Amino acid sequence: MRLHSLPVRALGLLLALSQPAGAQTAPVVPPAPEPAPIQSDEARLLPVLATRGMVSSQDALATRVGVEILGKGGNAVDAAVAVGFALAVTLPRAGNLGGGGFMMVHRAAARETVAIDYRETAPAAATADMFLNPQGEPDRAASTRTGKAVGVPGTVRGLAEAHRRYGSGKLTLADLIAPAEKLARAGIPVESGLADSLPRASGLLGQWPSSRAVFFEGDHVLPRGATLTQRDLADTLRTIAEQGPDAFYQGPIADKIAAAVRGAGGIMTAADLAAYRPEIRTPVRGTYRGYEIVSMPPPSSGGVHLIEILNILEGYDLAGMGAGSARALHTLAEAMKPAYADRATWLGDPSRTKVPVAGLTAKSYAATLREKIDPERAKSAAEVKAGDPLPYESDQTTHFSVVDAEGNAVSNTYTLNFSYGIGLVAEGTGVLLNNEMDDFSAKSGARNAYGLVGGEANAVAPSARPLSSMTPTFVFRDGKLFLVTGSPGGSRIITTTLQVIVNVLDFRMNLAQAVAAPRIHHQWQPDVLMAEEGISPDTLALLRAKGHNVKVGATSGSANSVMAEDGLLAGASDPRQRGTLAEGR
Ligand code: DON
Repeated sequence: MRLHSLPVRALGLLLALSQPAGAQTAPVVPPAPEPAPIQSDEARLLPVLATRGMVSSQDALATRVGVEILGKGGNAVDAAVAVGFALAVTLPRAGNLGGGGFMMVHRAAARETVAIDYRETAPAAATADMFLNPQGEPDRAASTRTGKAVGVPGTVRGLAEAHRRYGSGKLTLADLIAPAEKLARAGIPVESGLADSLPRASGLLGQWPSSRAVFFEGDHVLPRGATLTQRDLADTLRTIAEQGPDAFYQGPIADKIAAAVRGAGGIMTAADLAAYRPEIRTPVRGTYRGYEIVSMPPPSSGGVHLIEILNILEGYDLAGMGAGSARALHTLAEAMKPAYADRATWLGDPSRTKVPVAGLTAKSYAATLREKIDPERAKSAAEVKAGDPLPYESDQTTHFSVVDAEGNAVSNTYTLNFSYGIGLVAEGTGVLLNNEMDDFSAKSGARNAYGLVGGEANAVAPSARPLSSMTPTFVFRDGKLFLVTGSPGGSRIITTTLQVIVNVLDFRMNLAQAVAAPRIHHQWQPDVLMAEEGISPDTLALLRAKGHNVKVGATSGSANSVMAEDGLLAGASDPRQRGTLAEGR
């Protein structure tokens, strides 16, 4: 997103044209820099509008599958399940059958919101020290690139459970899987986001013959313009459609997945797959300036810290400070830090550790944290350990939002963790495997791939769920659905979701602006205020003057969102990646 570069280029052109032909005088100003590569399909600063349903996802083909299911009489859950299966085909870097995630479901008629936790679990043979090397230090390669990195996948049972419990009843699971199978079997064009991500994953995918067979043509990943055909994945999808989700967890498919994981040095067994179950959880709730925030509870840290930060921010007049102002960004950053500090200590799988959700989301607790914020000075770096700069990856994990004509809604974030997970397709299944085990803390105080610190509460344990930051969220106004949002982005998921909400509620941006606006992120440790490109240098200078260690990096997140107001649905997909689409009906 380089919207800011347009005027500069226009100025350069104007100056060039104003030079008389043949004039030898040196230019008064340096020539305009090389134009930036085109980074988005188009500038989408207005949301898409519709009345009978809306789907916003990171991939246009998958969005259209969702809209098609709504057109066939499916409800938001039906559409979301179909989108979930479709993204496993069309967005292989993040959409998945071999990973896991969280689905928030709002049922308008029942006035009920539930959270489906289909997060991966550690295999039963997992141990607290399994990611430590002989020196007792975290072995990052083991937790990200080998079979040991793979958590027991939850997506297939998660999506099937969503359909079984909350689907319209008009469409079978097979009806919802059919579009995905068709895309896998017929093939999809390698373009947009897929063409962008494949070359970056070349090394990861290329090390496994079973992955080369799918994603390579000769010695190279499929080039832009080629066709990605996934026959094994199509067969796996057909088997699930014909026999139900258990066919993924028991029998030939499960055996092949367990064999692939063990062949790559892992410890997962067929019994681990057979034992996997999604959990139905009660969402975490808060309020912000009169709106109700309903989000994902542990084992995600997302909802808890989203509400914690909003509670802190509620004490400030952000609107008066102005969107993008140094004062507002400073306030946001200072509110983020204590939340991430709490995350490192308190958060983990609620089946193993008592997470003090009520305290962390209490207004009175936020008031104590607010008191410590200095409006003029960033908390000193001496209070926090210096650390590595975080990876500025943007396109792993994926979030989609769906609303139907009745006001039912789904907010779903799911992931393989890294882009393409460990890069291994389980031979004969077409299923890419995750590296979610890296979300555990290898040892107390150690950082994961996103620089997040974790403690005992998030230690590896048999069958435990690793702590997540995924934050699928609903915002309600007067009991009515108002906003559906969430994002990928590793540790930045929480702050991305936060800023979409603040941009809409405080800064009164339309949804497309709220999603597109440049974002900041601070996660307490390392002591770095990350800023996307597009924030004014003057603002960054003011933030540095307040003591922030500002680092400007590439864009992050993909907050594909939907808003509902006065019978209208507004959809916005994130312009940070090519190929995202919000479409209504
Ligand atoms: O669950 C989590 O918090 C991470 N595994 C999510 C990873 C992610 O968002 C990567 N995307 N940029």
